[in-house]
Amino acid sequence: MALWLMPMLLLTLSVVAASNTNKVYQPCADARIQRSDGFTFGIAFSSKDSFFYNNSLQLSPCDRRLSLSSSNAQLALFRPKVDEISLLTINTSSFFPDTFGGYMVAFAGRKYAARSPLAFVANNTYVVTSFTLVLEFQKGRLQNLYWKRDGCSSCKGKSNFVCLNKQDCAIKTASCKGRGGGSVDCSLGIQLAFSGTDKHLSVLNSWYEVENLRQYSLYGLYSNLRDSLTSQYNKFF
Ligand SMILES: *[C@@H]1O[C@H](CO)[C@@H](O)[C@H](O)[C@H]1NC(C)=O
Ligand SMILES: *[C@@H]1O[C@H](CO)[C@@H](O)[C@H](O)[C@H]1NC(C)=O
Ligand SMILES: *[C@@H]1O[C@H](CO)[C@@H](O)[C@H](O)[C@H]1NC(C)=O
Repeated sequence: MALWLMPMLLLTLSVVAASNTNKVYQPCADARIQRSDGFTFGIAFSSKDSFFYNNSLQLSPCDRRLSLSSSNAQLALFRPKVDEISLLTINTSSFFPDTFGGYMVAFAGRKYAARSPLAFVANNTYVVTSFTLVLEFQKGRLQNLYWKRDGCSSCKGKSNFVCLNKQDCAIKTASCKGRGGGSVDCSLGIQLAFSGTDKHLSVLNSWYEVENLRQYSLYGLYSNLRDSLTSQYNKFF
């Protein structure tokens, strides 16, 4: 099945563990997973309108009726390991989400298509760099994808963050590297969490771990992630 979007950025996280049993590597195909499988999904970046059919119905980016391929859209593919806490990063040093419409949707599947609601990422003025995406499975099939918000509690009291719509911590786009002389690395960090059950009805519970960890600085866990994503905010602001 041909994938219509220009695969853009980095193919990240090829976690091919010996224990993988999921042979589905296309985001627009249906998979049934068990714990420790890899699972492929995509995130499409485009304008708000381009995710809606007939201006009213939000479809999966895999649905050809959207004709995202001929619009100004970009696609990132990921293959994290099911039920492991992962932090996906999208390096924005040469990819500015606002030049592709500023919104993103996470998606996977065809007959069992699931897609997240739209998330605002960036425009000329603001950029949101930190997200939590929940992948909810039932009996190993992806049922639902959604963005988990924390009501801006992670940026409370940090004067250079703005709380948008009472849900997203944003910084000024002009503070970003490559954007008007700013010094902040505005790469996107997407924290993943898994919930529900796999095909053997084992419970996926990385979600609970994320909930518990949220009170700490989650990013502090990812020692392989460059400082720039984390401590820069304290350093520069
Ligand atoms: C598109 O939306 C309009 C107005 O909401 C409606 O009248 C029309 O039937 C819709 N077309 C399709 C193909 O769904
Ligand atoms: C993004 O890429 C640039 C250029 O390669 C690099 O300097 C920067 O550290 C990267 N940022 C992250 C978060 O990996
Ligand atoms: C950028 O996005 C923010 C938050 O959605 C909005 O308040 C602001 O008006 C937007 N600015 C522009 C120039 O579109």
